[in-house]
Amino acid sequence: MRASEWKNVCVVGLQWGDEGKGQLIDILTARSDVVVRYNGGANAGHSIWMGDRKLGMHLVPSGILHERVTCVIANGVVLDPAVLFEEIDLLRGLGVKVADNLRISDRAHVVFPYHKEQDTLSEKALRDNKLGTTSRGIGPCYADKVHRSTGIRVGQLVRPDVFEPLLRRVVEGRNRLVQALYDAPGYDADEIIATYSDYARRLAPHVCDTATLLHDALDAGQRMLFEGAHGSLLDIDHGTYPFVTSSNASAVGVPTGSGVPERRIDTFLGIAKAYTTRVGTGPMPCELEDETGQKIRDRGNEYGTTTGRPRRCGWFDAVATGYSTRLGGIDCVALTALNVLSDFDPIGICVGYELDGRRIDRFCALAEDLGRVKPVVERVPGWGCDLSACRSWSDLPTAAVRYVERLEKLLGCPIACTTVGMKRDQVVWRDR
Ligand code: IMO
Ligand code: MG
Repeated sequence: MRASEWKNVCVVGLQWGDEGKGQLIDILTARSDVVVRYNGGANAGHSIWMGDRKLGMHLVPSGILHERVTCVIANGVVLDPAVLFEEIDLLRGLGVKVADNLRISDRAHVVFPYHKEQDTLSEKALRDNKLGTTSRGIGPCYADKVHRSTGIRVGQLVRPDVFEPLLRRVVEGRNRLVQALYDAPGYDADEIIATYSDYARRLAPHVCDTATLLHDALDAGQRMLFEGAHGSLLDIDHGTYPFVTSSNASAVGVPTGSGVPERRIDTFLGIAKAYTTRVGTGPMPCELEDETGQKIRDRGNEYGTTTGRPRRCGWFDAVATGYSTRLGGIDCVALTALNVLSDFDPIGICVGYELDGRRIDRFCALAEDLGRVKPVVERVPGWGCDLSACRSWSDLPTAAVRYVERLEKLLGCPIACTTVGMKRDQVVWRDR
């Protein structure tokens, strides 16, 4: 199917996040009626463009700049109201309308200050075994959701009669826990109630049953865009556990995170960077801890949007990306940041792994094994010129096209476009 024929699309990262999903989402948003965030929380970082101004967002769906687009924060998201209102206030200050075009699920779970602190305390206690989280309280909030008796949903937060007694009970238990585990002072329930009651008043007009809203919109023939956060290799079930995030960050997260069955989506667009990056700890077979890795970091400006940390860099990992392509039932891939590789010759591609001297061609998500594999690297010629002015497929030098075709063959999935810069018009489509 050609890109112009896509109707309900899911955009999902195929690596360890930071694949440049935002740029494709931005383009696809312009032709969507509804944009849905279905996983993660303020640990995600994406940039949206308002003219020439770049806005760093974590929670608000990218569709927010388009007044006619309904932006949905669905049930699978963990919502930090402090971050949400910071973003809303920034947007309103710039004249953007944020009213009933933003809908928030009554089933999304709420991030509280104790989640964020626990994230930090728990990491600190792990010493050399840190997960390298973003300290946004993501893991502790999802843990409470699954634990049930300590989770608080948006639908409960906006009802003072429900929220206050629930919060008091949760904080009482939490205080005993953090005092015993971390010798930390604990929290003042009144203070949290005061702050969060304010948030609740502001949230209330946006809150609804978003699963029903989405089904109604689909039945009415509206075009929907599912905006995946993070990347498939950070998926809680299918990623490199325990060095993952706490949500289903691959395409499998859509049904649970939104209530929309997968078969209502016609196109799964996987986003993969032309090389590999990873933030935080955990295995990364292709990591280059040398000058080449540093050069990729410099050329690609590979520093985190959420935490500012330098990202670990390496060649494209066709084994890992092939795994997530298959996992997500990906229909086609957008290969981003191709221009970053312009100064490299030859360019490496990881086409297999070696474990204990044996060649393996399959990805193994078990961190214990993946941490021991050695990459098998194939070298292909570079193109040695800047691509940023390319606008059509025929503008690309032959070596760049060959590189894309090689990755396509290794992934077993068509590559629909590539990006040669961050701007809206720097997406080069193959066939439109
Ligand atoms: P976007 O949406 C890159 C990583 C963190 C850490 C691990 C767990 O910008 O692509 P968490 O705070 O989620 O408990 O941290 O997951 N991580 C990301 N890395 N991009 C992201 O999102 C990420 N979201 C989480 O660095 O290693
Ligand atoms: Mg990021």
